[in-house]
Amino acid sequence: MSAITELELFRQSGLIDGQWVAADTGRTITVTDPATRMSLGTVPDMGASETRRAIEAADRAFATWKRKTNAERAQLLEAWYGLMMANLEPLASILTAEQGKPLEEARGEIRYGAGFVKWFAEEARRVGGNTIPSPTPDRRIVVLKEAVGVCGIITPWNFPNAMITRKVAPALAAGCTVVIKPAQFTPFSAIALAILAEKAGIPAGVINVVTGQPREIGDELLTNEIVRKISFTGSTHVGSMLMRGAASSIKRLSLELGGNAPFIVFDDADIDLAIEGALVSKFRNGGQTCVCANRILVQAGIFDVFAARLADRVDQMRVGAGTAPGVAIGPMINEAAIDKINEHVSDALARGAKIITSERTLPPGGQYVAPIVLTGATTDMLLANEETFGPVAPLFRFETEEEAIAIANGTPYGLAAYFFTESHRRAWRVGEALEFGMVGLNTGAISTEVAPFGGVKQSGLGREGAQVGIDEYLELKSFHLGGLS
Ligand code: SIN
Repeated sequence: MSAITELELFRQSGLIDGQWVAADTGRTITVTDPATRMSLGTVPDMGASETRRAIEAADRAFATWKRKTNAERAQLLEAWYGLMMANLEPLASILTAEQGKPLEEARGEIRYGAGFVKWFAEEARRVGGNTIPSPTPDRRIVVLKEAVGVCGIITPWNFPNAMITRKVAPALAAGCTVVIKPAQFTPFSAIALAILAEKAGIPAGVINVVTGQPREIGDELLTNEIVRKISFTGSTHVGSMLMRGAASSIKRLSLELGGNAPFIVFDDADIDLAIEGALVSKFRNGGQTCVCANRILVQAGIFDVFAARLADRVDQMRVGAGTAPGVAIGPMINEAAIDKINEHVSDALARGAKIITSERTLPPGGQYVAPIVLTGATTDMLLANEETFGPVAPLFRFETEEEAIAIANGTPYGLAAYFFTESHRRAWRVGEALEFGMVGLNTGAISTEVAPFGGVKQSGLGREGAQVGIDEYLELKSFHLGGLS
C-alpha cells in the first residue's frame, strides 16, 4: 500500500447527501498507481440506484442553496479555496499516485484547480441581471439570472482535480447543486475535494460524488428529469453519445471534447521561444491533454535547426515515477493509452516518418513510453488525424503560410492552436484564420481561469472559466411588470 492511504484526505467511499457510503451491492473497483501497477485502494462500484439518490439529494439541497445570498455562497467557496491551498501537498500526492503526473505538475494542477474556486467565488458576487426599456409606458422589463438546477458533472482522468473545480465552482457560485462522476481511474482526487468542501461548510447534498463504472451512472444522469444540465470533459465520441442521451429531456450541455492542436513555427519565429513553447505544449502531463500540440508544423527554412534542437531537449527529459526527483514524463494512464501511442508511431514509421531522438531504456514496472520526436510526418498518418495523447512530437515540414493554415484547419476538431512568428502582420492574419476556440501566439501555455476555455467544431460546446464560465450554469428569466401607468 502507498503512503497516500495514511492521509486524512484519502477515503474509499462515495458521498451522497452528506453521508460517506459504499455501493448498494458492496462491490468495489480497484484504483491502481500507473507508476507501479499496484493497487492504491478501492472505491464503491455504484450504479443507477445510488446515482438516483444522489440526484434527489442534490435536488433537495438546491431548494436552500439557491436561496443563499451570492455573498454567502462566495464565502463558502473562498473557504473551500483556502482549504485546497492549505492542503496542496496531500492533494498533489493523491493526484500523482492515481494519475501519474510528476509531483511538481500535480502541485501546479492543484493551484490551477483552486484558481477556479477563487475566481468563481469572486464572480458569484457579480451575477446581476439587467433592465430593458419597455416598448409600452405601462411596463417595466427586467432580466433575472437564476440557477439552472441540479447538474451532472462528468470529469476525465487527465486533470482529476482542475476539471472538477472548473465545473463545480461556477455551478455552486450560480446556485446549482451537483452530482460528480469522476473518472474511474482517478476518483480519489474527487473524494479529497469533496472532503475539503464538507470541511469548508458547504452543506450536505450540494456536492455528491458517485464512483463506479461510467455507463450506468451516465445513463441515470442523462435520463433523470431532475438533472437540468450535464457538463462533460472527455472524448468527442462520448460527448456525442451524451448529446444524444440528453436530447430526450432537453438538458443543457457543456462539452469540452477532443482536440488535434496544430503548433506552427514560421521561419521568422524566435526559435528559443518556439522550442520552449513546444516542450510545454507537447509534453505537459506526458502529452495527455486535450490542448497538447498534436501536429508540429515547421517552415522549411528553420526545419532542420528546430528538429535537432527539439530532439536534443527531449533526449534530456527524464521518464519515471511522478514522485522521483527531476522526472518530466510520468507513466501513461493505462495500457490502452500505450497501445494507441504505439499504433500511431508504427503507422507513422510505416508511412516514412523517422524517429530522431535517441533510444532509451525505460524504468521497469510502470506504464511508461519514451518521449520521441519524429520527422517526415504527413497528413495521411493516424497521428495527423487523431489525438495521440502521449509524448510523441511529429514534425511536419511546410513551405508557405497558406499551406500551414490549410493543414492546421484540415481537421474536424477546433480546440487549441499555437503559432510562433515575430511579424505582427502575420500574427493577426494567422490568428484570425485559425478555426480554433483558443489560439496561443508565441506561447505554448494557454490554460488559466481568467480566459474562456473551449472549442469549436467537434471540440465541444460552451466555455469554461473566465467571466462567461458562470453563464453556463444560469438561466435568463424575462420578468415583465405590467399595469404600471
Ligand atoms: C484538458 O486536457 O481537458 C484540459 C487541459 C487544461 O485545462 O489545460
